[in-house]
Amino acid sequence: MKILGISAHYHDSAAALVIDSVPVCAVQEERLSRRKNDAAFPLLAIDWCLEHGGVQPEELDAVVFYERPMLKFERILTCALRSFPHSWRTFPRAMRNLLGEKIWVRGIISSHLGVPARKILFTEHHQSHAAAAFLTSPSRRAAILTADGVGEWATLTIGHGERRPDGSAAITLLREIRFPHSLGMLYSTFTAYLGFAVNEDEYKVMGLAAYGRPTMVDHVRKLIHRTPDGAFALDLDYFEYQTTAERSFSSRFVDLFGPPRDSSEPIDLETPRGQRFADCACSVQRVLEDTLVEMARSLQRETGMADLCIGGGVALNGVANARILAESGFERVFVPAAPGDAGCALGAALYADRTHFRNPDCEVPDHPFWGPPVDGAELAKVAHEDSQLVEELDEYPLIERIADDLAAGRIVGWMDGASEFGPRALGHRSILAAPHKAEMRDRLNRDIKYREQFRPFAPVVPIEAASRYFALPPGGLRLARFMSGVFPVRPEWRARLAAITHVDGTARVQALEREMSPKLYALLEAYGRRTGIPVLLNTSFNLAGEPIVNRAIEGYSTFRRSGIDILVAGRTLVLKRASSMAKFKETGT
Ligand SMILES: [Fe+2]
Repeated sequence: MKILGISAHYHDSAAALVIDSVPVCAVQEERLSRRKNDAAFPLLAIDWCLEHGGVQPEELDAVVFYERPMLKFERILTCALRSFPHSWRTFPRAMRNLLGEKIWVRGIISSHLGVPARKILFTEHHQSHAAAAFLTSPSRRAAILTADGVGEWATLTIGHGERRPDGSAAITLLREIRFPHSLGMLYSTFTAYLGFAVNEDEYKVMGLAAYGRPTMVDHVRKLIHRTPDGAFALDLDYFEYQTTAERSFSSRFVDLFGPPRDSSEPIDLETPRGQRFADCACSVQRVLEDTLVEMARSLQRETGMADLCIGGGVALNGVANARILAESGFERVFVPAAPGDAGCALGAALYADRTHFRNPDCEVPDHPFWGPPVDGAELAKVAHEDSQLVEELDEYPLIERIADDLAAGRIVGWMDGASEFGPRALGHRSILAAPHKAEMRDRLNRDIKYREQFRPFAPVVPIEAASRYFALPPGGLRLARFMSGVFPVRPEWRARLAAITHVDGTARVQALEREMSPKLYALLEAYGRRTGIPVLLNTSFNLAGEPIVNRAIEGYSTFRRSGIDILVAGRTLVLKRASSMAKFKETGT
């Protein structure tokens, strides 16, 4: 059975193909269209998935859309009517957006793919999140918690999943919290208040939080209170997102927290104003964590289960995930590589396969590499044409050579095999560097990522060596598989791992199993033989504001426009000529 899953029209559009109950491929539209967080109907992603899977559209048994557009329409209509006449300005625009595409999803899919309407199915948004979390995990029985900004109505659900002895799999969502009460929207409101881009820069709030003190926790708690049934409710007087798309926080919010930050204003932590922003970030982060931990703890008591699967955009918060693991009573916590809306494309397809078609459950390969492969020959061709130095090496000498370069302080653009599905670079589209000195962090921020100084870089380490350098609680290795948890760097290693140790002594570590990415694993070993520390700095292979590179040519373009010294794709290695480096340093281009 061939099932195509699609997520689109909010942010992070994606497509995923499941054949005979197993994922074959999945990719975000942004990686192909090169528009960051592309929300358009993912025609390029669909095309690529069908081509890669060798499937004609007419051979598809089902196309599954990741949410129910009519329910979403109902939510927007209801909220607009509730807040009329306040919403009269934004309502026509919201309607235009919806009427333009969203509620006609069945027609759009049918006309683009030529599949009959009866083959087009819909899952609920949080069912897709839950399926992406549970059905891709190796757990047999797990509690499920999903949390995001909003889907149709739900913003948080709790439930459980089970793989039964008869081979079937079931997902049961027990309860939900509905819009406008939303942990994701609470966090996004602070994202907007702090001058960052909503639905995109929430991780910057988490990074900034480490510089702050939780001095405003009591203020944040005025915005959100727990309800007797174990849920939570927001005090809507502090918010405006429920009535307008123009602004997410109200004047009462500003009265409480002070004037917001403009996006162009630098955050100077030496000033009281800069410190106030960091304290704000720290305080909302703390309240988010506390709320999630309490909800996970009561879910553990209710289900008595050892495993928890977390889905939804909130599951990208690695600090919260680590606290849930440490404090909720669950022994193991699973977060998929793509817990956000892009991952819903895969979740929707798997959900339809297991629950609509009732196909027997199949083990899903436990890796994130579902995207397009990289082609070393393409890199060699474009680099030759650009008169750069190109070498072709077998795997062993290539790894030895790159380990030498990394140990000598060079920065490597590393492309290997299929790209990652999800927002993290997990070793197939990564920029790698020595993790030891703070100067390397500053150089990467200055010459390559062009980004804020407070943003931390992540380390990758062989799974067997992870606990030597990082204080991982029981279950921490699993959370570190897809870089989903933030854990302390052991104090005795912090000075020697300065480039990946955040200001609060933590790191968002990836613990790598050899089978998941043998070439990178071998590189870590080779680097460890040279330096005594098999840890590398691993950051996503992109420049600020651009999607992670996909094809070799995009890696090459990034390499030429930044301070990366060496580029690797497959067996092909490209060195920057000294003259290009001089030009780069002079012009920054
Ligand atoms: Fe979502």
